[in-house]
Amino acid sequence: LIHLLTTEGLPKRILNQVLDRAAEFVAQGADGNKKFGHLAGRSVFNLFFENSTRTRTTFEIAAKRLSADVINLNIQASSTAKGETLLDTIHNLEAMGADLFVVRHAQSGAAHLIAEHVQPGIAVVNAGDGRHAHPTQALLDMYTIRHYKGDFTNLRVAIVGDILHSRVARSQIHALTTLGCPEVRVIGPKTLLPTGIESLGVHVHHDMREGLKDVDVVAMLRLQNERMSGAYLPSTQEFFKYYGLTPEKLALAKPDAIVMHPGPMNRGVEIDSAVADGERAVILPQVTFGIAVRMAVMNIVAENQARRGN
Ligand code: CP
Repeated sequence: LIHLLTTEGLPKRILNQVLDRAAEFVAQGADGNKKFGHLAGRSVFNLFFENSTRTRTTFEIAAKRLSADVINLNIQASSTAKGETLLDTIHNLEAMGADLFVVRHAQSGAAHLIAEHVQPGIAVVNAGDGRHAHPTQALLDMYTIRHYKGDFTNLRVAIVGDILHSRVARSQIHALTTLGCPEVRVIGPKTLLPTGIESLGVHVHHDMREGLKDVDVVAMLRLQNERMSGAYLPSTQEFFKYYGLTPEKLALAKPDAIVMHPGPMNRGVEIDSAVADGERAVILPQVTFGIAVRMAVMNIVAENQARRGN
């Protein structure tokens, strides 16, 4: 693992390496305030060109727990506002001694572009690019599923909502299928499902009640309004009626099914508060697990940097 840009094509061995390493960090106290020295002397630059609460903050906590120097570039106050290109910004930050860039960008492919142009030895971790990929979110989701369900080999997982615009859904599907999950369902209206999604090995459902039957995991998604044009945008009341997760619809899943959501949630649009705050929801544990998973990713990337001579 030199850069982490997507879960697509990532071998099972590497997915498990990240999950196992995260579990080791947790066992050693990483979910408290314990400090580790793995990234001492290294500089992690957080470059969030698009808003974030969970990803940006947990990457910062994770890097600090590993003793890295962490620089959060304030994009709004940076010289990108004066017309500096993305790559010129990157090259200037390289000149300041960056070792690892954590990048979120509204354009699909931005992290790949940066990875193609950074100096050898500098790593790029994709923190979400457009509707393309959000690999560390998928990894923390896999960690969450493994934590509550043991393994993937007997699971039915339903991913529900705006699949079309969701980088999280794509990254989850690739990770789940690689980890051996035998049944991944996607549930949503035709307008919010990408054409040909069946080719990824998923089962498509438009009727949420049918799709939720006997699933072990319900992974909800937000309507990605910021990536939609009018053609896709359903009314929120209508969406909630057909695709909102209510206690009544959740009752169709297995009695011990867990409910996940990457956040931010829109209560009353894709999820009812009674479910979001209910005993089956593991939405806040997902956030906590994100720290150890991001520690694991940065640790593994840095080890590989060291092996390659930086
Ligand atoms: N799940 C997620 O990416 O949340 P943020 O946008 O707050 O980082």
